[in-house]
Amino acid sequence: MKIGVLASGGGTNLQSLIDHWRKGTLAPAELTVVGANVATAFALERAAAAGIPTFVLSHKTFAAREEFDRALAAELRARGVELVVLAGFMRVLTPAFLAAFPHRVVNIHPALLPSFPGTHAQKQALDYGVKLTGCTVHFVDTGTDTGPIIAQTAVPLLPDDDEEDLRERILAEEHRLLPAVVRAIAAGKVTVEGRRVRVAGADAPADARLRSL
Ligand code: GRF
Repeated sequence: MKIGVLASGGGTNLQSLIDHWRKGTLAPAELTVVGANVATAFALERAAAAGIPTFVLSHKTFAAREEFDRALAAELRARGVELVVLAGFMRVLTPAFLAAFPHRVVNIHPALLPSFPGTHAQKQALDYGVKLTGCTVHFVDTGTDTGPIIAQTAVPLLPDDDEEDLRERILAEEHRLLPAVVRAIAAGKVTVEGRRVRVAGADAPADARLRSL
């Protein structure tokens, strides 16, 4: 299955996908292209270093959100992309994009959704005072972090944590969860019925309290 990754920033999740791909542990998924909406995204350099084709499509050059979305979908389609992975892609996608990839767009979010959607999820968790937070991989719908949940991992929030401590602890789990989900989708193990997503073979996780995959 050909994967297109979209990013806007540093791209540590992209790096983890690249590392798995190189080791052969992302198969049957393969990284086909990396796209960014900002030319300075470090994710582009990570992709180039790994020999993965890249493109930049700036949303600022489009008058309407839908026009950007249609152009973005066309770019990915033209490159044969079958699954789109949002790895720190800071744009909400409209039906103009999603219609081109039904149930084929996933996002990773640094909280246990539906808690703390949107930006600054780690700060939201700290401010709320929760004892557990984590990360979620979900299918993308037209809302902000509202699509059907595929997998989650819980992460403790420790008394002296600041935002950066928490960000790093969650990222470590993101780097494990996202490749696992991409691999499972590519292997045809993921089915969706309404909001319920089933991942075949994930019925008996190692630690059912903390992990759904
Ligand atoms: C991650 O925390 C991800 O959950 C969120 O954006 C961040 C991207 O980090 N959607 P990176 O660019 O992969 O390092």
